[in-house]
Amino acid sequence: MDVRAKRVLITGGSRGIGESIAHAFAGAGAVVALVARSEDAIRKLAAELGGTAHPADLSERADVEGLLERIEDESGPVDVLVNNAGIEATKSIVDTTADELARITQVNYVAAAELCRQAIPRMLGRGGGHIVNVSSLAGVGVYPGLATYSATKSALTHFTAGLRADLRGLPIDTTVVELGPIPTDMLEYVDDYQPTARSFQRFYRLQLMVEVPREKVADEVLEAVQRGRRHVRIPKRAVAFSLLSEAPRRIVEVLLTGVPHQGTRTDRS
Ligand SMILES: NC(=O)c1ccc[n+]([C@@H]2O[C@H](COP(=O)([O-])OP(=O)(O)OC[C@H]3O[C@@H](n4cnc5c(N)ncnc54)[C@H](OP(=O)(O)O)[C@@H]3O)[C@@H](O)[C@H]2O)c1
Repeated sequence: MDVRAKRVLITGGSRGIGESIAHAFAGAGAVVALVARSEDAIRKLAAELGGTAHPADLSERADVEGLLERIEDESGPVDVLVNNAGIEATKSIVDTTADELARITQVNYVAAAELCRQAIPRMLGRGGGHIVNVSSLAGVGVYPGLATYSATKSALTHFTAGLRADLRGLPIDTTVVELGPIPTDMLEYVDDYQPTARSFQRFYRLQLMVEVPREKVADEVLEAVQRGRRHVRIPKRAVAFSLLSEAPRRIVEVLLTGVPHQGTRTDRS
């Protein structure tokens, strides 16, 4: 997709990877629409980049309901949706509260899936679009302290594959972004829980993991949208983990070649 003058909705656009993604798309001529809780931060960044700010708390179902419609009413059609907002509460599942479990699942998976659901008919009505879901290599390999986080990221990766199956033959591309450690507030927080930090240290020592700057992630996400790439995998040295988990999905995809992918439900009553 030529992103010039296209509107790109980025959740979690107030800081970290989302902020870098906003800079990358604006630098390529796109108009960004930023979603996060920190109103001042997204208003400031939107003003700097010539975009719009749409404060919302994605852990609140009421804020997520009808969000695409509200944003399009306020700023115009969304051509690219980047589901980037994400949270974790790095600790043992034994110490995780029911509220934390629900919030992480809601922000990382349910809100992202719901925004896809809201965006797709709108994009199709206008002839197409692109959806980017920011997942994690923690959705492939599981580390202590990250059971809930990993499960939501695994769900988001798998959901994106399902989305692709539903959208086959339709003019909406999807990209799943599987990331290793990227220095941001989130990584600092994760490193405060020793079992997780020690597990990461093992991977660093084995040279299977390396920290990559968030600007590099943003450049690759931009390129994926421009070139219609279905995957961004960072760091490259960990690609094998992602490919192994992708294999059954790809096999099923090949086995389903020729089976019609769109339709209506059969009324059996
Ligand atoms: N950093 C890493 O090592 C790493 C690795 C793999 C995957 N990822 C994924 O990359 C994405 C970005 O992470 P990051 O490292 O940039 O994290 P971050 O620096 O902590 O930023 C998280 C972003 O999500 C927003 N957010 C959090 N809760 C929200 C809510 N309830 N409603 C709306 N927005 C909310 C935050 O904005 P407000 O606080 O203003 O709401 C912020 O903009 C996440 O999906 C994360 O899982 C990160």
